[in-house]
Amino acid sequence: MGNGIIVAVANQKGGVGKTTTAINLGAALADSGQSVTIIDLDPQGNASTGLGVAAGDRNPNSYDLLAGDTTLAKAARATAVPNLSIVPATADLSSAEIDISKRARRTHLLADNLKQATGIILIDCPPALGLLTINAMVAAESIIVPLQAEFYALEGLSQLMLTIRQVRQTANPNLRIEGVLLTMSDSRNNLSQQVEADARQTLGGVVFDTVIPRNVRVSESPSHAMPVIHYDPASKGSAAYRALAAEVLMRRKKEPVRG
Ligand SMILES: Nc1ncnc2c1ncn2[C@@H]1O[C@H](COP(=O)(O)OP(=O)(O)O)[C@@H](O)[C@H]1O
Ligand SMILES: [Mg+2]
Repeated sequence: MGNGIIVAVANQKGGVGKTTTAINLGAALADSGQSVTIIDLDPQGNASTGLGVAAGDRNPNSYDLLAGDTTLAKAARATAVPNLSIVPATADLSSAEIDISKRARRTHLLADNLKQATGIILIDCPPALGLLTINAMVAAESIIVPLQAEFYALEGLSQLMLTIRQVRQTANPNLRIEGVLLTMSDSRNNLSQQVEADARQTLGGVVFDTVIPRNVRVSESPSHAMPVIHYDPASKGSAAYRALAAEVLMRRKKEPVRG
């Protein structure tokens, strides 16, 4: 192993804030001096677009990294944010599930090819629990689970937890949950408050203290190819993602090996 910290941002539900969290937590950690690489593992390539990697400029990419046709050092490219690089994704990645399914180490490909990783690696997972997300879970030491503060938020969680348990039993016994992150919360909305209360009661200390508010600046920033903390540093969304970065670093200092 290199001395990298690999964290997967995963939830099989789409639209819960995985990509937004990968980009903005990544940028906030980078701002605090950490060397951060985002691996865009979603064929939709939203993290790549959101960080300004043009669609025609995505070689080498995460598919090549998964396939072992490139190295992390070659595939990671700088972004406009100092200390933040990205391994971009292309739509080719959607065929990866089939292409790699016959390989003997099909669930370990990303782990095998991230052995030399250094710094913090954030993997932006696709909205599914297929081979791509499994590869991320096998490679990662921990998982951040964004949970959108809406009615069915907790419903999909048992399936996700089951998959995490299976990965622990088979491939990655030390895989832990870095934290569950409440996203798109609306403090004036009773439902958001209810979901937050439920999540804290059901999941306990694994829920991050930091809650990400619904904030229009957060949703605008990708179209300007910038993390919100640079697009509008004074916004509530920026403050929340900076707080999340601080909380992640603080928790790690306090409890370097949490169960
Ligand atoms: N805190 C937020 N406030 C407002 N909009 C948000 C926030 N977080 C995410 N969004 C928007 O919600 C949509 C889904 O978020 P995204 O991060 O792409 O989810 P996922 O990667 O899980 O599919 C995007 O349009 C994004 O801009
Ligand atoms: Mg996404």
